[in-house]
Amino acid sequence: MTPLWMPDHPPRQGLGLMRLRDSDPDRDPVTLVHTALDCGITLLDTAEMYGNEELVGRTIAGRRDEVTICSKFGVRWGDSGRRDDWSVHADAATVVASCENSLRRLGVETIDLYYLHHRSEETPIEETVTAMAGLVAAGKIRAVGLSNVTVDDVRRAHAVHPVLAVQEQWSLASRDVEAMLPTLAELGVTLVAHSPTGHGVLHRDTNTPLGAALAEVARTHMARPGQVALAWVHHQGRLRDHPVVPLPGTTSVAHLQLNLAAADLQLTDADLARLEAVS
Ligand SMILES: NC(=O)c1ccc[n+]([C@@H]2O[C@H](COP(=O)([O-])OP(=O)(O)OC[C@H]3O[C@@H](n4cnc5c(N)ncnc54)[C@H](OP(=O)(O)O)[C@@H]3O)[C@@H](O)[C@H]2O)c1
Repeated sequence: MTPLWMPDHPPRQGLGLMRLRDSDPDRDPVTLVHTALDCGITLLDTAEMYGNEELVGRTIAGRRDEVTICSKFGVRWGDSGRRDDWSVHADAATVVASCENSLRRLGVETIDLYYLHHRSEETPIEETVTAMAGLVAAGKIRAVGLSNVTVDDVRRAHAVHPVLAVQEQWSLASRDVEAMLPTLAELGVTLVAHSPTGHGVLHRDTNTPLGAALAEVARTHMARPGQVALAWVHHQGRLRDHPVVPLPGTTSVAHLQLNLAAADLQLTDADLARLEAVS
């Protein structure tokens, strides 16, 4: 089986579909996803928890072969409707059942990259990853990913089955993941950097020192502050010579195109130093 990507040649940027809904007539999900594919963005990210796998499946119908489809399992909402009411389920039986359900909802035969969405306090990661390895052997998934895990989790999981990617938040506003980078580099694991604009805050932040610095750097490049924030994540991978795939999310074609352009923004050493000083 051909690998999804070589560690030294990961996809340039992904498209996060967490917020994708079909309720807004001005933001057609099919147009969004097809525009992304036409522009060369083929890594699409969803999750069982996002409740939109059927919709994502409809957007890729007829273009499955062009897409690297990623989903996640293990986090379930409670019944209260509160945003903090969720729990983790990562035992072997859940791994298998969740995958079958995601495959059906997405309308695909294989999920290219399947992530454990969040570490479990109850289930040893070896049990979870052994079940995921079984899914690889059965052709249900192509590669194993982890999200919201620790360095120790990554090492223990990788000892059971190679981990292709770890998905963690990384932006100028959230830099904890940097402590994990030496381990990922040692193991040859790609970092998929989700929420590179701090869940959108860095697109509109004007009142903080970071917001001011982003606006200042953006002016010199005739760009927008959010584009500079995204370009900063792109630069982190290049600076460290480590495979990093920024994963911005959008439901807007116009924003998608701005985010694509951000990947080409060349920040100078002075720009990077200015941002470093306030992040
Ligand atoms: N593994 C995890 O636990 C985890 C957690 C969170 C997210 N994720 C993944 O990461 C993806 C991105 O996360 P995120 O959406 O929270 O953060 P983000 O990409 O930092 O920000 C997205 C927000 O910024 C807005 N936006 C995007 N591009 C813009 C632009 N060019 N100009 C102005 N506003 C723009 C979006 O609104 P519009 O729709 O209006 O563009 C949205 O509200 C998700 O879709 C998901 O796939 C993973």
